This record gives sequence, structure tokens and C-alpha cells, in this order.
Amino acid sequence: MAKHQKIIIAIDGFAATGKSSIAKRLSNSLNYIHIDSGSMYRAATLFALRLDSKNKLNPKKIIQSLSEIKIEFKTIKEKQLIFLNNENVSYEIRKPYVTNQVSKLAKIPELRSYLVKKQKEFGKNKGIIMDGRDIGTIVFPEAECKFFLVANVEVRAKRRYFEQQSKDNKETYEKVLKSLIKRDKLDTDRISSPLMKAKGALKIDVSDLTLDEVYDKMLSYIKKKLNKH
Ligand code: DC
Repeated sequence: MAKHQKIIIAIDGFAATGKSSIAKRLSNSLNYIHIDSGSMYRAATLFALRLDSKNKLNPKKIIQSLSEIKIEFKTIKEKQLIFLNNENVSYEIRKPYVTNQVSKLAKIPELRSYLVKKQKEFGKNKGIIMDGRDIGTIVFPEAECKFFLVANVEVRAKRRYFEQQSKDNKETYEKVLKSLIKRDKLDTDRISSPLMKAKGALKIDVSDLTLDEVYDKMLSYIKKKLNKH
């Protein structure tokens, strides 16, 4: 597919719909860059939690310290890692103490603008797949190809729960479900860039689909867009 002109692919959707895993696979097939914008919000949350000795979020302090947040992505041994001020935080940002605070931080408009600016820079040469909550609406409203992934919350909670089983920080299924419901509400109700379907985005309900099926569906839609382009 290299003969096509590169485009921007925006994938938005609810937490635990498989956005990042599928985006990663698609980026390998298309030879595109993949940016998981959620990991940037997570890294910024880790930075913010470390500003306070009691790990409490202080929006005023965060806004004052924005310029000290340096986020980079590096691919090492075919794995994409995220670095916060030169520290590899790829593992730390997935821990529940970060996950459970990130939606609170993601509603701060100043922080969003700071990260959106960086996200736009990643896409300046196109050939990018970015996943998140506001990619098709705010970061790349001009994206040639947009998706919006939804799924039943119980299906998503089960997925997250099983994912956690191989890790140190496990939570009960009930806790995972509760946390997802809370995050959904915070993501959709916030005033600054709430999660919503972008104009022209293809909505896919992934509740009854395997990751392979979702991947196939998305890839064939992208190919159609590439052919039109
Ligand atoms: O995709 P994720 O679960 O890793 O995202 C973590 C949090 O970051 C999520 O609760 C909402 C927020 N987020 C956001 O507000 N905007 C984005 N573009 C991506 C993530």
C-alpha cells in the first residue's frame, strides 16, 4: 500500500474497546506511525501525581509545571515505549493508581491544549494512526479516515480484568467495572473535548466481535479511503 499518499487515521472510542491494540496492528500493516494519545495523558498524570508527596492532583500546580513535561516515544526491540523526562514509564502508567486518576487530569483545558499541540506535531507528515478520545474531533478534524469504537461496558470490563491477570496489580472484576463506568462518565461529560463521535467517523460496536474481526473491518475501510485519496 506504499504507493498511496499517506493519510491521517483517527481512532476514538471508549476505554478498553481495543483501540490501541488494533491501531498498533494497523500501523504495522500500513507502515504508519502509531501514537496512543491516552498514554500521553497517563504519563502527564504520573508527572502530576509526583508533584505532590501525598500523590494528590493539584490542578493549579500542574498548569504551572506544564513546560516541565517532556514526553517521547521510542521503539526499542520492536516495542513502542513512552518516556517521561527521559524515564521509561511504559509500565508504571498502566498501574491502577494512575489509571484511576487520569480522567480527572484529562479535564484540565490547559493540559489538553499542551498535549494536543504535541499530538498535532506528530501528524504533520501524515502517515499516522492516533487513538484516543478527541482525535477525530479536536486533534485531527481534517483526518481522511475516522473511527469511533463502542462496546458494552461489561464486555470491556471483562477484557480489562483478564488483561490484568498477568500483571502484579490486579483488581477484582467489580472494581474494574466500577472504574470503567466512572471513567466513561468523566470522559463523556467533561466540558473540554468530551468523548463523542466525530463527523464522518465510522462507528463500530465491537461488543460481539473479536479483535481480528474489528481489525479486518477497519483495514478494509481504510483501503477504500486510500483508494479514493
Ligand atoms: O485510552 P486510555 O484508557 O489509555 O486513556 C487514558 C485516559 O486519558 C482516559 O480516561 C481519557 C484520557 N484521554 C483523553 O482525555 N483524550 C485522549 N485523546 C486520550 C485519552
